[in-house]
Amino acid sequence: MFKRDKITVVGAGFVGATAAHWLASKELGDVVLVDIVEGVPQGKGLDLAQASPVEGFDSRVIGTNNYEDTRDSDIVIITAGIPRKPGMSRDDLLSTNAKIVKGVTEQIVKYSPNCYIIVVSNPLDAMVYVAKEISGFPKNRVMGMAGVLDSARMSLFISQALNVSVEDINAFVLGGHGDTMVPLPRYSTVGGIPITEIMDKDSIEKIVERTRNGGAEIVNYLKTGSAFFAPSSSAVSMAESILKDKKRILPCAAYLEGEYGFSDCYIGVPAILGGNGVERVVEVKLTEDEKKGLTKSYNSVKELVARVKEMGIV
Ligand code: APR
Repeated sequence: MFKRDKITVVGAGFVGATAAHWLASKELGDVVLVDIVEGVPQGKGLDLAQASPVEGFDSRVIGTNNYEDTRDSDIVIITAGIPRKPGMSRDDLLSTNAKIVKGVTEQIVKYSPNCYIIVVSNPLDAMVYVAKEISGFPKNRVMGMAGVLDSARMSLFISQALNVSVEDINAFVLGGHGDTMVPLPRYSTVGGIPITEIMDKDSIEKIVERTRNGGAEIVNYLKTGSAFFAPSSSAVSMAESILKDKKRILPCAAYLEGEYGFSDCYIGVPAILGGNGVERVVEVKLTEDEKKGLTKSYNSVKELVARVKEMGIV
């Protein structure tokens, strides 16, 4: 007998509720929305379910405060935590969100010991590390969403600068999800053509800077929270690639064991996402400058992880 996939989204805030929306509207499976606040996941879950006759999706959507309802999930997307306010960096969220991600992961593992975990909570690379350590899951089953979002932002800015369809753009961003991320114009293409061939240096530099500050630009507009449409859509595209065994190459926070010369760390790299989760990290040749940028990013992620360890969280 065939059965539907089951996807749990933890955190029924802006990112979580919007992720549930994309998941259900794409009919990727039945969706369980969990939050600690009583009533919010139930209300949003019911509201979304009531859109199903209009939109014509048959995904069941429920909201709950009880992890029992998440039992046997195939994929769990963790968005629980606090978002940034203007002037805050993602790193300022470290201690609060590390404790939240730890608690959530313990509950998830108890009810869904075979699931795949996609972390969205920030600071991303350190939070995925917490989820991996606490779950004890193998590296292919725990990953973080950052690169899809960062490269989506870069793709949009390229498409706007060149006035071409976003569909023909493939942007490439490596590194941690923060100020040290490494957008790679050399590997970013429009219709297969590297942008370095068709754009001048200044325009590319502007796009790189705007990509690095893509999250902060939105925080500054919103003032009370951070981006949620594109982050949730990015997490759902990773879930889709796994659930449908599409084997897309997506930039995501993957656990490294020697790839790119780094170990025991999560950082944004291109990875093949298929039925077995992170099936392979794809290594590309980097110039000295790019390698330097990635090393800086790695060091800043390592520093955050060291702080999480000092706090005794992992
Ligand atoms: N268990 C479950 N849910 C929790 C927990 C917990 N222990 N702690 C907090 N939450 C919930 C909150 O109740 C809230 O509904 O997480 C939700 C977070 O939602 P928002 O405040 O709207 O934040 P959001 O914009 O969704 O961002 C969530 O994703 O992109 C990242 O930086 C962002 O870390 C942040 C996370």
